[in-house]
Amino acid sequence: MAAKIIDGKAIAQEIRQKIKEETAELKEKHGVVPGLVTILVGENPASVSYVKAKQRTAGDLGFYSVQENLPEDVSEEELLKLIDKYNKDEKIHGILVQLPLPKHIDERKILYAIDPRKDVDGFHPVNVGKMVIGEPCFLPCTPHGILVLLEKAGCEVSGAEVVVIGRSNIVGKPVANLLLQKRKPVGNATVTVCHTGTRDLVFHTKRADILIVAVGKPKVVTGDMVKEGVVVIDVGVNRIGTTPEGKAILCGDVDFDSVKEKASAITPVPGGVGPMTITMLMKNTLEAAKLWAGLPNEVS
Ligand code: GUN
Repeated sequence: MAAKIIDGKAIAQEIRQKIKEETAELKEKHGVVPGLVTILVGENPASVSYVKAKQRTAGDLGFYSVQENLPEDVSEEELLKLIDKYNKDEKIHGILVQLPLPKHIDERKILYAIDPRKDVDGFHPVNVGKMVIGEPCFLPCTPHGILVLLEKAGCEVSGAEVVVIGRSNIVGKPVANLLLQKRKPVGNATVTVCHTGTRDLVFHTKRADILIVAVGKPKVVTGDMVKEGVVVIDVGVNRIGTTPEGKAILCGDVDFDSVKEKASAITPVPGGVGPMTITMLMKNTLEAAKLWAGLPNEVS
């Protein structure tokens, strides 16, 4: 079977168009412009490129956006001060601190300092807790993007055997939790989470109807590890080299060439999950602006 390619770029584009229209309407009817600040510490090349893409998209959609670049050796105190400033800034509805942070900064302290009403990443424990019990909240962007991809790909999730590889707070844990919930249109699955302690990874991957791979290592899932007809969501973005022009060469956590021969559908890298993560961040920022303006929204 040659897999259908799930075109994350096209799906993201369609959703961004709707966000753009809603943003224009929000401005015209209520004088509210969604505001997003992205805070980058240091110069990790992957983080620099993600933050640039987030800023560019915010601008394209008509948001007010601010970029804060802090040096690698910035103190925790200074970063907390900056967060406090944006917690109080009425023009800013969403605060994003790009992860990972340098080792001398306590990531937990930083994430806890963001006002949960501006936590467009969905990483604050208030939002994580609400997500787990199925209350309206800011959903974390990559897991939310994966749900939308599965929906748009027409994938039957209810009752399916979903196997997630990876247990990070950003992807593995939340996506597993969302998919097991009785939520519509995507949820009600039987979910298994595999990780470095899993004894027999292939036993699990071989019985997956839907396989979500978020391990951060190139091509760890190969064609011989999956069953015919599986739907594969590849969250990995691994830099495996550079072109002569200096552009990063990317590949996923899945060996695309061998897995696509058995899968019924698969996300490419790049152009799969990545554009969806950014789009759901924009969606959260728009909802945050509506929340701030006291308008009906999807996060409260
Ligand atoms: N680093 C990798 N993914 C993410 C994300 O979704 N949000 C933030 N803030 N940092 C990240």
